[in-house]
Amino acid sequence: MNALNVSDDELRSLTERVTAMAAAFLSELPDLRTFPDLSSREALDRLAGPLPEHGLGAQALQGLEDVLSMCRPPSPRFWGYVLGSNEPVAALADLLVSVLNQNVTAWRSSPAGVTVERQVVQWIATAIGCPTHTGSLCGGGSAANLMGLAIAREALLPANESGARPGIVYASAEAHMSIAKSMALLGLGRRQLRSIPTDSRFRLDTRQLEQAIAADLAAGNRPLAVVATAGTVNTGAIDPLQEIAAICARHVIWLHVDGAYGALAALAVPEKFRGLELADSLSLDAHKWLYQPLDCGMLLYRNRAAAQTAFSFTAEYARTFASNPLEGFAFFEESLELSRRFRALKLWLSLRYHGLQAFRAAIRSDLQHAQDLAQTVRGTPALELLAPVELSTVCFRYRPAPGTAVLNELNAQLLQQVIERGRVYLSNASINGQFALRACFVNHRTSDADVATIVPEVLAAAGTAG
Ligand SMILES: Cc1ncc(COP(=O)(O)O)c(C=O)c1O
Repeated sequence: MNALNVSDDELRSLTERVTAMAAAFLSELPDLRTFPDLSSREALDRLAGPLPEHGLGAQALQGLEDVLSMCRPPSPRFWGYVLGSNEPVAALADLLVSVLNQNVTAWRSSPAGVTVERQVVQWIATAIGCPTHTGSLCGGGSAANLMGLAIAREALLPANESGARPGIVYASAEAHMSIAKSMALLGLGRRQLRSIPTDSRFRLDTRQLEQAIAADLAAGNRPLAVVATAGTVNTGAIDPLQEIAAICARHVIWLHVDGAYGALAALAVPEKFRGLELADSLSLDAHKWLYQPLDCGMLLYRNRAAAQTAFSFTAEYARTFASNPLEGFAFFEESLELSRRFRALKLWLSLRYHGLQAFRAAIRSDLQHAQDLAQTVRGTPALELLAPVELSTVCFRYRPAPGTAVLNELNAQLLQQVIERGRVYLSNASINGQFALRACFVNHRTSDADVATIVPEVLAAAGTAG
């Protein structure tokens, strides 16, 4: 017998232990600290030890308890960054995904994987009002943004054969860092990314966009794409999509919408996302506002042929032989990935288990929680709201008395205290140079009572800060 084989009975027993551990972890979530009480030294010490030459067998599982205890848990009171709360039915599908080990390269490698993924992509595209878009899943919003801009580049300034040529991309000053990273990776160069100022609601100012395009045209530069953001990472602002789409159409510029954070909220509040369907390419992140376990990004595009032009470069060993368009289908011809995990299964199971209604309701609840927190902040004299609440992000700061100096340092210290106390988890943002405490609600576990703890906890931590 191969040394790596595990008997059916042993595997069944291991499975029971691991699933029991997972179930216990989930049921304890409300009582767990939002950040483990742990220094990096302790973490290293707990895991120290040589790589075993001889297997520990079932005893190896004991170490998992240690790892679990060191995790920053998906708590009901976690509102940092933009990170969904991992819907557990989807997590069960993920276990099966690893067991099945489908490589979703092409239909000939994974008929189930390809069929489920194409269906899920079509469900989501239709549900957010982009029924004629198609696309694929990927690692996340950063990968989706990179692919969207790669398709734009190949459509308007082909580079695959001879290398990149100068092209200008426009995005608001609030755009996600992955846009600048994409410019670098695509050989366009970060200096060719025009940072367009925003209005008082942190939305891209379209007048300034027009002026920037006119200036580039006058200077002989080639405008390539506009990246509009549907839900900025700092404040949740939604750029004026329809106006931007009209400008792009007029100048024959690609419109990529970065909806990694916000676009899935179109399921619940479509009126905020008018113009989404005009995007040539659109990034979404189901591991953010569709509560899926990591990772589950998605890129949608209007023109499949454009995606194939950018990504199709098929070696003989990967060629598909079927003449039937479904059986000859290959994701790698329209994605940068070749080996691909069966990401769609969790989304498929989770959507079928709960139904779209439940996801809409969860998103609405997040939106309401953000409004509730904003209301409490407004009513608390020592706190100050720093940005309008467009979606589910609230940026605020502690300002004990008007004119208090060094507010940035004070609030940075305060955030550190809040995290160390382990009762709520917030992150930060920079709003016009002001350090903000930031709560982003994309958490189906959060209750009204959890939201009500935030302000008292921040004020209590302020008593210990500095
Ligand atoms: C607007 C926006 N775009 C892109 C990303 C990157 O997504 P990911 O972390 O999945 O790569 C984020 C992440 O928060 C985001 O908020």
